[in-house]
Amino acid sequence: MSLSVIILAAGQGTRMKSDLPKVLHPISGLPMLHYAIKAAKALSDDITVVLFHQADRVRENIESAFDGIRFRIQDHANYPGTGGAVMNIETRHDRILVLNGDMPLVTAESLRPLVESDADIVMSVFDLQNPSGYGRVVVENGEVQAIVEEKDCTEEQKRIKTVNAGVYVFKKEIMDRYLPLLSNDNAQAEYYLTDLVKMARDEGRHIKPVWVEEEAFKGVNSRYDLAHAEEIMQERIREKWMRAGVTMHLPRTIYIDSRAVFHGDCTLENGVTIHGETIVADSHIKSHTVIEDADIRNSSCGPMARVRPGSILEDTHIGNFVEVKKSHLKGVKAGHLSYLGDAEIGEGTNIGAGTITCNYDGVRKYRTKIGKNVFVGSDTQFVAPVTVEDNVMIAAGTTVTEDVKEGALAISRTPQKIVENFFHRFFKTGKR
Ligand code: UD1
Ligand code: MG
Repeated sequence: MSLSVIILAAGQGTRMKSDLPKVLHPISGLPMLHYAIKAAKALSDDITVVLFHQADRVRENIESAFDGIRFRIQDHANYPGTGGAVMNIETRHDRILVLNGDMPLVTAESLRPLVESDADIVMSVFDLQNPSGYGRVVVENGEVQAIVEEKDCTEEQKRIKTVNAGVYVFKKEIMDRYLPLLSNDNAQAEYYLTDLVKMARDEGRHIKPVWVEEEAFKGVNSRYDLAHAEEIMQERIREKWMRAGVTMHLPRTIYIDSRAVFHGDCTLENGVTIHGETIVADSHIKSHTVIEDADIRNSSCGPMARVRPGSILEDTHIGNFVEVKKSHLKGVKAGHLSYLGDAEIGEGTNIGAGTITCNYDGVRKYRTKIGKNVFVGSDTQFVAPVTVEDNVMIAAGTTVTEDVKEGALAISRTPQKIVENFFHRFFKTGKR
């Protein structure tokens, strides 16, 4: 499609009250700007992102995730405002979609009605019962006559319910002709992109309003908006995966990162949290389990288990209060209360309650390797680095500090001592 896209992301985002640039605040695991870029990528091969505040930081973030995006630093000191932001940008195509970087709920689908309309300027509008904060759009005879920013509205204009959603498609010649004519003679002393509309209209150009769904075009300005946008995003993510065959119990209590992927037959119970680029296939994730950047196949986790980054679970069961980090478990059972970090554990192995891999000496991390069909008794510690071969028994309470050979028993215990009648003597119960 011969369309260029300009994404406005130079604003400071003062209302977020944060050192992090507004467009980098995450929603469902990704900076909000990524969503606008993804939508743009589906429509165009020529995308420019306009930056100013913390430009390097934002640019580095985008470059780490996307190829082929162009950047422009706005001359903010001399040309502040949305009009200033789009000045002097080279575009490859003769139609230009202008998007805001703080619209994480916008999708290629929701932009299509705008992109497919034909006029000198196509602009997105919606009707609001409470239009405050938005630029009001004056529509007459099916054409936009003007957009008036709230701070510049008369009392009568303030009552207009049709507002500017902030997304436009301009013909390139319209931008070339009118941008140099913009002035900053308004309440905020900024160059308003919206003034272009009035100037073009005054010269008889056609400006078409397209009513869009408010939800998709909602801008995020505060952390309240951020939370609200994330709720909508979560609902979309859950719906997508439920339709793809994931059963969810009390879905509103489940949090799923936008990068997570499910395959086959999966069940998520209430309160499950899935962060990062997690893959879950044919597995049952029980209540209040937290998973991050892990790969879980044909397994069950929880309730209340924690699977941390770099973990692979295959044909495995982990139960309550089991934490797994950067470990590969294949055909393993670890039912209760364990920490398995930097470990590799083989098929048929049973991990008793209270087993801990001591993987950290305060400076470095070390690996634990446990073979197949190993029976690990309760309350075992593996002091890594350590290797346990196949078909081994480890007695309950053992601290494994040395490698264990195939077929052996490892046991380290202080022999038990019995002191008869000690209780009665100690508490002077009178019984002998
Ligand atoms: C803008 C519109 C308003 C519309 C509203 C919809 C103008 C003048 N007003 O107002 O009619 O109802 O969006 O959300 O356009 N930006 C820059 N450089 C700047 C200023 C802003 O890149 O100098 C970027 C911001 O980062 C943001 C976008 O432009 O992504 C919109 O800026 P914002 O200040 O939020 O405009 P609004 O006052 O909301
Ligand atoms: Mg805004």
